[in-house]
Amino acid sequence: MENGTSVSTTTLVGRKTAKEEISLLRRLLWLANYIYHQALTLLSVLLIWIYIENYDRTTLRFWHVLLSTAAYLPLMAIAIIAFAEDNILTLYFPRKKIYWVHGVLLFISCAFITAGISVETHAKRQRGASHFQSDHAILGLVSWVLIVVSIFIGLLAANTQLFSKYVKPVIAKFIHNFLGIAAFFIGIASLFDKIDVVRWYASEPVYQASYYSIWIISVWSILAALKSLYGQIRNIIF
Ligand code: HEM
Repeated sequence: MENGTSVSTTTLVGRKTAKEEISLLRRLLWLANYIYHQALTLLSVLLIWIYIENYDRTTLRFWHVLLSTAAYLPLMAIAIIAFAEDNILTLYFPRKKIYWVHGVLLFISCAFITAGISVETHAKRQRGASHFQSDHAILGLVSWVLIVVSIFIGLLAANTQLFSKYVKPVIAKFIHNFLGIAAFFIGIASLFDKIDVVRWYASEPVYQASYYSIWIISVWSILAALKSLYGQIRNIIF
């Protein structure tokens, strides 16, 4: 504690400060972040392992589930949480490096989703099935559209020197952040719609673990994202 207020993670890292300055709240936030990463690792490895073990790897369906899932868990989840102040993985990364990690992961994620949805659409066309009818399909498509728009606006926000006369950087960053978060949650909802895949190929306790892991990942990501959105709204207003 410093002057009665909790010392932020950025301040602590910058100062390489003594242990006793780390508040209980700060330790709890790091612990929650650690649990988040555990849940993310568990779910990503489990789902990818289930697909590899149980799907016919020569089918387009296999590539749909593999690429679409990996795009969100772990890639987009890591890209979103990278900016959270209490994120343990990027604690000692300079801000510029985090921008790169975020941008590269999101770019790969977007390529994976585009490919993942394209192969399923192609497979459905071959079968003569109609497109984007189910909740899963509509949520997936909406998420993809938002990601593409969000990445485009993110590029505008990153190249402030080129585009600042057309759009204010704080506004571009806010829209990028907002659309990115919406895309992530809508995509996770699409995945959640298919979470029964764990029940089909693994045991009930493993299904329960996956179910709660998705909740942990969603709740913790939204808290981190809302905190960052709040900071941006304050930057725009004041
Ligand atoms: C978050 C990841 C995912 C996204 C964004 C996504 C997106 C989509 C989209 C947009 C379609 C519609 C394609 C079309 O109508 O032409 C679709 C279809 C489908 N997906 Fe996914 N998908 C994801 C993960 C999964 C998973 C994990 C499974 C199964 C384990 C799965 C199984 C299916 C099936 C069975 C269809 C065809 C039936 C339908 O249209 O609902 N998907 N997906």
